[in-house]
Amino acid sequence: MTDTAGKYDRFSGFYDSFEALIERRAFSKYRKRALSLAKGKVLEIGVGTGKNLPYYPEDVEVTGIDFSRGMLEKAERRRRELGLKNVKLMLMDAQNLEFGDNTFDTVVSTFVFCTVPDPMKGLKEAYRVLKPGGRAIFLEHMKSESRLLNIPLYLMDPVMRALTGTSMVRETQRNIERAGFKIERVENLFFDIVRLIIARKP
Ligand SMILES: C[S@@+](CC[C@H](N)C(=O)[O-])C[C@H]1O[C@@H](n2cnc3c(N)ncnc32)[C@H](O)[C@@H]1O
Repeated sequence: MTDTAGKYDRFSGFYDSFEALIERRAFSKYRKRALSLAKGKVLEIGVGTGKNLPYYPEDVEVTGIDFSRGMLEKAERRRRELGLKNVKLMLMDAQNLEFGDNTFDTVVSTFVFCTVPDPMKGLKEAYRVLKPGGRAIFLEHMKSESRLLNIPLYLMDPVMRALTGTSMVRETQRNIERAGFKIERVENLFFDIVRLIIARKP
């Protein structure tokens, strides 16, 4: 088990309560918007406690993966409570996906590539398993283009790294492009720190 997966195992018991306020005020709205774009066979990377599960359209088939057993157990409970038969959950590392090339119509990640230990490796894997023409939906927080906005992010960074292995200052949009995705649309949801990025595999 990696250090980050262990951190999430320990965090899983209070992850949902820790984020409850921001979830109610903002994230749930962002999730609804992001997940409404999912189609067909969907891979959700870093499914966590399954917070996105209520927002998927009914006609998609979702495979959710996470490398934290603790987080996945919470997601499984949520899946059962929601009675979702079209969702399958698997313990897996995003940096080494156990799926063939060109398997999924949609790849989803929400607040994950700030945490994947080697984000380029994870993004290249996401690209590999997406079908050509398939859509990737990234709802992620990242470093801002504004030096001023980056000050609090750099201050929070060491604390978040220690707690959950999360970086507040990754250049995730650039990383997505570097992995080969063609970005179609970017919506800044909270300044340019939280962005919804819609991309395709050409
Ligand atoms: C901040 S949480 C977000 C969870 C969920 N996506 C959400 O929106 O609430 C980050 C999640 O990514 C998972 N994660 C990070 N790196 C991963 C990796 N390499 N492979 C699989 N899961 C990973 C963590 O275990 C954790 O559940």
